[in-house]
Amino acid sequence: MSQDSGNPAPTAATAPIAVVTGASSGTGRDIALALAADGCDVALLGRRVDALNAVKDQIEAMGRRACVLMTDLLDEHAIAASMETFFVWSARRMDILVNAAGIPGPLGAPVGSFALADFDAVIATNLRAPFILMSHLLPLMYARNSGRVVNIGGNHGMRGRAGRSSYSSSKWALRGLTRSAALEAGQYGVTVNFVAPGPIAVERMRKRWAERAEAEGVSEQVIIDQYIADMGAVLRRPSETSDVVATVRFLVGEGGRNITGQELVVDGGVII
Ligand SMILES: NC(=O)c1ccc[n+]([C@@H]2O[C@H](COP(=O)([O-])OP(=O)(O)OC[C@H]3O[C@@H](n4cnc5c(N)ncnc54)[C@H](OP(=O)(O)O)[C@@H]3O)[C@@H](O)[C@H]2O)c1
Repeated sequence: MSQDSGNPAPTAATAPIAVVTGASSGTGRDIALALAADGCDVALLGRRVDALNAVKDQIEAMGRRACVLMTDLLDEHAIAASMETFFVWSARRMDILVNAAGIPGPLGAPVGSFALADFDAVIATNLRAPFILMSHLLPLMYARNSGRVVNIGGNHGMRGRAGRSSYSSSKWALRGLTRSAALEAGQYGVTVNFVAPGPIAVERMRKRWAERAEAEGVSEQVIIDQYIADMGAVLRRPSETSDVVATVRFLVGEGGRNITGQELVVDGGVII
């Protein structure tokens, strides 16, 4: 936590403990690194162990502790097993949970044109997994009467989008989970909030934009400008991971102490 967070200064014994899902790439990785830079020890959850280990190395180089939880979020037994590992590593302390793992699911696919299994995978990753993690970890926060949960949604949870029904459904439902959990958790001094990014310039999105630029014989910037204009972002830029990281830092820091059950949209002004 940052020095103005109001939390005790981190030491080896008392550093705040964070769990970040989706910590192997993109936004989740950058949130994990930022929390470590702010003094947290961080458990890193994802499937790609090499990528997770690389983040772990970076965190340890900052003098903080990190723990790799190689877990497929589609498998509740695997999640339960990784929680056992986490409980030992953290001595059952728990301060911050950031559910950042997510998948986009079918793109540009109208209802009726894609398999039920694809819908199920999106719901399981984007909604069911945060529910399972909160089920395991909120009781630890309740036991200490403090804690912060941030669920990374998306601005498709604030609107409909043709061709994105499974993704949009998962993020809308994550808002319901966030608000309901916030109502339950308040009496324990635990906050639960939702951050709704618009397009973020992560590796996955940059690759998609680069491929389209090559196919159309234009620069990547032209494709990004087009994409953002189609979205209707009044600030005319995609988010960087740093935009989302700053919002998460705010919510888990002093500024977020009295904020719960809220949705913060970080999308350059699409949802207004
Ligand atoms: N990028 C955007 O434009 C955008 C826009 C709005 C909202 N968001 C949301 O922001 C969050 C982060 O997105 P991102 O684009 O930064 O991520 P990303 O780079 O695409 O990475 C996705 C992360 O989710 C993890 N993940 C996916 N399925 C998993 C599974 N079954 N088990 C364990 N981990 C799994 C991946 O880990 P492994 O591959 O190691 O399993 C990876 O770390 C997501 O919730 C996403 O919906 C993104």
